[in-house]
Amino acid sequence: MAEARGRSDVSALGEDLPLLEGIRTTRAIRRLRPDPVPRELIRKVCEAGTFAPSGGNRQPWIFVAVTEPERRAFVAERYRRAFGRYIAPALEAAEEPDFPAAQRRNLRAALHLAEHLAEVPVHLFVAGWTRRGTPQNQGLFPAIQNVLLACRAVGLGASLTTLHRAYGEEIDTYLGLSPRTPSCALLPIGWPTGRYGRPPRRSVDECLHWERYAEEPSRT
Ligand SMILES: Cc1cc2nc3c(=O)[nH]c(=O)nc-3n(C[C@H](O)[C@H](O)[C@H](O)COP(=O)(O)O)c2cc1C
Repeated sequence: MAEARGRSDVSALGEDLPLLEGIRTTRAIRRLRPDPVPRELIRKVCEAGTFAPSGGNRQPWIFVAVTEPERRAFVAERYRRAFGRYIAPALEAAEEPDFPAAQRRNLRAALHLAEHLAEVPVHLFVAGWTRRGTPQNQGLFPAIQNVLLACRAVGLGASLTTLHRAYGEEIDTYLGLSPRTPSCALLPIGWPTGRYGRPPRRSVDECLHWERYAEEPSRT
């Protein structure tokens, strides 16, 4: 099993996945096992994050990997509350028989994560330096996506979440982050219970326009 490998194996892990195949099969993996993840592997996926582009190459990212059970419980308790407030109404709508099945699966997985976040072995927070008093989230998302792709490559499951921001200040203070370095995203990371696969996506032919945008029917 990947988690039983030594440090030298970690350097080889994930290096052979073709880039575009990795991109096409990276998706939100929210059902995770509680087994620990080697620190060296978390270091490796964060290193992938550091190769992201950023404005002026300022590299504003800060990664905080939370692994201690009581710290994860603190985060999970607040995440669950935020989830209940913002997402639970959608779950109710999802019980209607004509609700799209793929969206229903997605919401159920999101609920599963909210209910089991405390058991997820690594809560990886991505924070960043503000610039002229403004958070630079746009400077963090390329790094976040690199981390998600690297997780895919090494066999870890991960997803991008932002709901903790409902308790952002409180959680940031708990993590030692200040208003000058607010967190932007929380990536719960662990070994997946299921498999990776191609996520449902619109065809590129619906999104790609040449020379001029030909207006689509309203999507709202
Ligand atoms: C900016 C942003 C914020 C997100 N926040 C959350 C979140 O708080 N909780 C969650 O479970 N998923 C969150 N997601 C994940 C999306 O729900 C997920 O990427 C989407 O459903 C597609 O999933 P798939 O790749 O498995 O198809 C977020 C995604 C983005 C891009």
